[in-house]
Amino acid sequence: MEKKRILTGDRPTGKLHLGHYVGSLVNRIKLQERFDCYFIIADLHTLTTKPEKEHIMYLRENIREMVLDYLACGINPSLSTIYLQSAVPAIYEMNLIFEMLISINRLTGLPSIKEMAKNAHLAEESVPFGLIGYPVLQTADILMPRAHVVPVGKDNEAHIELARDIARRFNQYYGEVFPLPEAMLSEVPTLVGTDNKGKMSKSAGNCIFLSDDAKTVDKKVRGMYTDPNRVHAHIPGQVANNPVFTYHDIFNKDKAEVAELKARYEAGSVGDVEVKESLAKSLNLFLDPIREKRKQLEGEKGLVEEVIYKGTLKMQEVAEKTVEEMRSAMGLTGGWKKISRIARDRMEKAKKELLAS
Ligand code: TRP
Repeated sequence: MEKKRILTGDRPTGKLHLGHYVGSLVNRIKLQERFDCYFIIADLHTLTTKPEKEHIMYLRENIREMVLDYLACGINPSLSTIYLQSAVPAIYEMNLIFEMLISINRLTGLPSIKEMAKNAHLAEESVPFGLIGYPVLQTADILMPRAHVVPVGKDNEAHIELARDIARRFNQYYGEVFPLPEAMLSEVPTLVGTDNKGKMSKSAGNCIFLSDDAKTVDKKVRGMYTDPNRVHAHIPGQVANNPVFTYHDIFNKDKAEVAELKARYEAGSVGDVEVKESLAKSLNLFLDPIREKRKQLEGEKGLVEEVIYKGTLKMQEVAEKTVEEMRSAMGLTGGWKKISRIARDRMEKAKKELLAS
């Protein structure tokens, strides 16, 4: 039986952090044997807020860092296809067709677009057309390999809903070509940042990166937000909505220790330093094998390039098939074929007449 397909990916903004890991990478690694997996390096999506040349230059280094993180976490390129969005022309083509199948209102109503505009310091009147179309391009990514499942963080859930709408509309107009993709949220769909001010994100500067060394992790954990009312270790503290305990719950494998620390925290019988030291230790235990693998991979010259090259060639083939089916379902292929046939007949005839005369 044919495996079901997964598509997901990231904008190459550089190194990946714990939020990426718990929000989506964990599912990718878990599912890569059971599904046919496609992971897109969405470099075109970065242009929606940063179209200038200098950012395109930066992309190269960012792509490398991101793919190293993928591989270090356990994404296996012999099971999964990792490819570069901008090198698949069919995506641009499908994007244009899909633009016809969704209203501007539906797009401008998405909070994610406003959020991205805000983060990029764009005033409402200077939001690019392409940023409004961000989820349409994402839909082209998803429907290109006809994905069934899309593992994403909470912030992308509405985009998958929109992809379903476009797929449904396409199938209604032109016939059943696309499966309706489903979002798959992880157990921790959003991870709070170290400052407790919102989700972990590079632009907010509240990240712990997968490639941070142990010392950096220690330092970041020491500076983490905790219950601000606790000026002394003997004041009872709040465990709920305290990112230090949120991270303990996720990353500390010693559940008995977590329970004990929580109880002592609430009773005012443990200092923040001890709780944080234990967290830093757990995080470093979690990150050690990833860092080690990364180091080994960094030394293999040309490896990242080979992974992207092979994956992109494979995707180009898959994509050509899908767009051909798309064009054919729409009747676009037939039109061109007919024009070509009539034109060639005429040219052939003229040639024969010339030879005969
Ligand atoms: N929008 C995703 C992000 O937040 C990146 C992305 C681009 C994506 N295309 C995708 C995610 C397709 C899942 C499926 O960075």
